[in-house]
Amino acid sequence: MPITTCVFDAYGTLLDVAAAARTLAARPEGARLAECWPQLAETWRAKQLEYTWLRATAGVHTDFRSVTRDGLDYAAETVGGLTEAEKTELMALYDRLEAYPEVPAMLAALKGRGLRTAILSNGSPEMLRSAADAAGIADRLDALISVEGCGVFKPNPRVYDLVGRQFGTCAQEVLFVSSNGWDAAAASGYGFRTLWVNRMGKPMDRLPWRPDRVAQDLTGVPAIAEAP
Ligand code: LAC
Repeated sequence: MPITTCVFDAYGTLLDVAAAARTLAARPEGARLAECWPQLAETWRAKQLEYTWLRATAGVHTDFRSVTRDGLDYAAETVGGLTEAEKTELMALYDRLEAYPEVPAMLAALKGRGLRTAILSNGSPEMLRSAADAAGIADRLDALISVEGCGVFKPNPRVYDLVGRQFGTCAQEVLFVSSNGWDAAAASGYGFRTLWVNRMGKPMDRLPWRPDRVAQDLTGVPAIAEAP
């Protein structure tokens, strides 16, 4: 069955989640993060995801902004603490993360081929709207689909159901693209065609499912959508 719809994870896939800490560290007021920003960014991201899984498992949902702030509070302690002003600025920067360089042209190529495009993300609707606007890609996306539509985080299958609910698609006509190996793998298990964007050369997650394909960046997505 041909692919009609390309659906992207947001954070780490279209948007560079390290950009918030890197941007603050490059400013005069963030100079003390010059050395430690990579550790801050990595721990922040790791804890943010861990808290989504723990909340999904425990059945205690809150929105991704709260989980992101909780992850930042934890990560801040690992680098000797941050001021409230620094944390507020990092959260604001998280709402306007940079897109990876190949993203605008890749999305334009998909739209040029008549394919539907969307984000499917843990992010709350407001976070996704401001991130897509700030990255200048909102007009290349047909929908910003948030897990708030089902009230549980990835990889609960109810999240992947949101794509069919949005577009009336069946799973086999959807190409799902994520830089999170576990997200791409779970989406394969759900029945989507999948691409894992493995920018960092990480090992394959040991899960019951595997992504269909692996690539280093997003440039090949239009070709894969044409010949999955
Ligand atoms: C998202 C996270 C998992 O955008 O990256 O859903």
